[in-house]
Amino acid sequence: MNGLQLLGTGRSLPSRRVTNDDFARTLDTSDEWIAGRTGIRQRYFCAQGETAASLAASAARQALADAGVAPAGIGLCVAATFTADRRTPSLACEVHEALGLPETALCLDVNAACTGFVTALETARCLLLGGQMAAPYALVLGAERISGLLDFSDRSTCVLFGDGAGAAVVRLDPDAPWAAVFGTRGDGQVLHGGGPADPYLAMDGRAVFRFAVETVPACIRAVLDKAGLTLDAVDWLVCHQANSRILHSIAKKLEQDPARFYENMQRYGNTSAASIPIALDEMRRDGRLRPGETVICAGFGAGLTWGGALLRV
Ligand code: COA
Repeated sequence: MNGLQLLGTGRSLPSRRVTNDDFARTLDTSDEWIAGRTGIRQRYFCAQGETAASLAASAARQALADAGVAPAGIGLCVAATFTADRRTPSLACEVHEALGLPETALCLDVNAACTGFVTALETARCLLLGGQMAAPYALVLGAERISGLLDFSDRSTCVLFGDGAGAAVVRLDPDAPWAAVFGTRGDGQVLHGGGPADPYLAMDGRAVFRFAVETVPACIRAVLDKAGLTLDAVDWLVCHQANSRILHSIAKKLEQDPARFYENMQRYGNTSAASIPIALDEMRRDGRLRPGETVICAGFGAGLTWGGALLRV
């Protein structure tokens, strides 16, 4: 209980679509290899002038319109990202400026890599629950411009990621169910980048694969235990969209039909903190996710971090 009500969502993808065949023109790779190993067929990268902030602002505007909430109603804005355009101001402050959010709003970024959006939801929920925010609605978003961290000569990494943003407007609902579980395994080797010694994103792909398949099913089970529910009571599993084979392995471990796990990495690649809110927005807008349904969102990624949350939409 003391969960969140999801009032509106939005998403924004940049304009430069890059297919697997486009990569195969400059790299020793193929659509068959990339799609076969990951499910990914294309992704979008920022063109000149497109930024994490411009994507975030566009997704946030849509979410506010969808929720029917004016900027003045926003008490806090939590932006999940590990690829903000600048160290400062934060991405959340850039969204504040672009949307004209009120001066009374608390704005901050959270960096939990691909677990970012679930972490941001819990951050927003706790801040709302604390009772000190000046207005009742929270804008929670995930936005990334990962293309700025990619080595486009490294075929093992650059084909996996994409840029994008997703946003949600939420408010506290004392009657809404909520259960969340988080974990961290401090590890700077398996998945890292963006530092002076390692400017590009780098990873041990197999280790990341194993990590995800080990931690995410256990995390989902722990969320269900906390909520006192079984998986039958959950309508959708919306996991971070890194790799279709990872999601199939998670489904197998949980003895679930993979069709219950939403997938869209085919079209967007891995957009890190943006992948879950982009998925939620797609599912709401195409009628797949209906009001009153129960969803478990689960993220996993660099840190290493993981987190799952059960909510009713
Ligand atoms: N195209 C063609 N060949 C490629 C390639 C590409 N884009 N990328 C790597 N290869 C090659 C490797 O060089 C290797 O060649 P070698 O055997 O001659 O050394 C071969 O393919 C197999 O590589 P391997 O890493 O063993 O493949 P894999 O089956 O483990 O698949 C990943 C690699 C990256 C797709 C897979 O490990 C994965 O998806 N891991 C999770 C990564 C992830 O999602 N990270 C983000 C999580 S938030």
